[in-house]
Amino acid sequence: MSTARGEFSSRFGFLMAATGSAVGLGNIWGFPTNAASNGGGAFLFTYLILAFLLAYPALMAELIIGRHAQANAVNALRGLSDNKVTARVGAGVGFAGMITVTLILSFYAIVSGWMLSFMFAAVADIARLDSLSDWLIQSGTARDLIFTLMFYLLTIYVVVAGVRNGIEKWASRLMPSLYFILLALIIYVMTLDGAMEGLRMYLVPDFSRVADPELILGAMGQAFFSLSLGVGTMLIYGSYVSKKENLPMIGGMVTLMDISVAVLAGLLILPAMTVAALNGIEIYDAEGGLIAGPALIISVLPALFDRMGDAGLIVGLAFFMLMSIASLTSSISMLEVPVSYIVEEHKVSRRKAGLVLGLVTAVISVIIVLNFGLLFDWVVRLTTEFSQPLLGFFFAIFAGWIWNRNSLLAEIRQGNPEAQSGLFWRIWPWYIKFVCPVIILAVYVQMIF
Ligand code: PHE
Repeated sequence: MSTARGEFSSRFGFLMAATGSAVGLGNIWGFPTNAASNGGGAFLFTYLILAFLLAYPALMAELIIGRHAQANAVNALRGLSDNKVTARVGAGVGFAGMITVTLILSFYAIVSGWMLSFMFAAVADIARLDSLSDWLIQSGTARDLIFTLMFYLLTIYVVVAGVRNGIEKWASRLMPSLYFILLALIIYVMTLDGAMEGLRMYLVPDFSRVADPELILGAMGQAFFSLSLGVGTMLIYGSYVSKKENLPMIGGMVTLMDISVAVLAGLLILPAMTVAALNGIEIYDAEGGLIAGPALIISVLPALFDRMGDAGLIVGLAFFMLMSIASLTSSISMLEVPVSYIVEEHKVSRRKAGLVLGLVTAVISVIIVLNFGLLFDWVVRLTTEFSQPLLGFFFAIFAGWIWNRNSLLAEIRQGNPEAQSGLFWRIWPWYIKFVCPVIILAVYVQMIF
């Protein structure tokens, strides 16, 4: 079977694909707005600590298990032990991850559809097609359904093309453009009046908030979501990495790139908000908090672009292109999870699996669009704050307790014969065994009480 499995062609290809999965709406939208509504620098501070001390080790658990097993999450976790019960629990965790990631895709595609429609609206603006542009930016069921479906078609198109010719190829094209657009936008926004105020809001920590359980749970959820953890995405990408690669190092690079985009996005979004405020646009909600929900991206920022005249047309287009690219390189990694399972398990063609699973998930999105007020927030919170860290907990348990230690160490040594003299070797195995599960549980317990 291993010959039929995909493999990334190069380290660069893997880095772009894994970073593409990690970098998404979670970084450019979720992180800055979470920071803004949770004490600015205090959130940044907590997030950085959790990202390095919890999310990076958890990411490594997924990558190492994936590369070792050369299989999808269900089979990989099932195969880590000979014991019948733990094998069954492992398969269950893999399935739960698959369901979670499908639900994540179902809300993610809706938001990504908005990004596409705003991108087309910017094009319509440039072409002076005012009524078309008005329709594109006005929320409406028809518009949401059309663009959500369009986003699914793009995602399916890339996944069906395969690991190398789809995921790797498109991530390698899109990710460098994402960095470029992001940096250009930051530089531009920094030159505008009012930007410094936002910078201060973002970077100066309000340390009285650091111990706030809401903040810590938010930062943990954010870190897990941002690194695409707990749902088998990184596990399956790890299974496509060559045995010659030094995993702890390339996992570290993915983490650094993911964190850097989040931190950079904060340098764009918060200053843009205070620039907007200076231009008379409302940036606080009824309770006096900074607008953070959908309204931020689809009303505050567009209103700002609108007031910038002709420059705003280009900036708006660039911004929504950035968002669309970030979304697509993440959504393909989500769809890949169930697709890889069905392809490997039921010998269905990739084409068929991608199409059917993509369309089934699209139906869930349609249900959410039609019951938006009732379902949207609920699905987001269930999957990102509850499911993902909990599944991350199980991944840590499987890597630390269930998997045979010698086999784990052997996998770390692959691609890095000198591993034994390194820090990772000495720290990570016990860290994933004791520290990661305890931190995750502690955050939950603290939340409950
Ligand atoms: N990491 C992505 C983001 O930040 C979201 C994601 C979650 C991707 C789970 C894959 C799996 O937007």
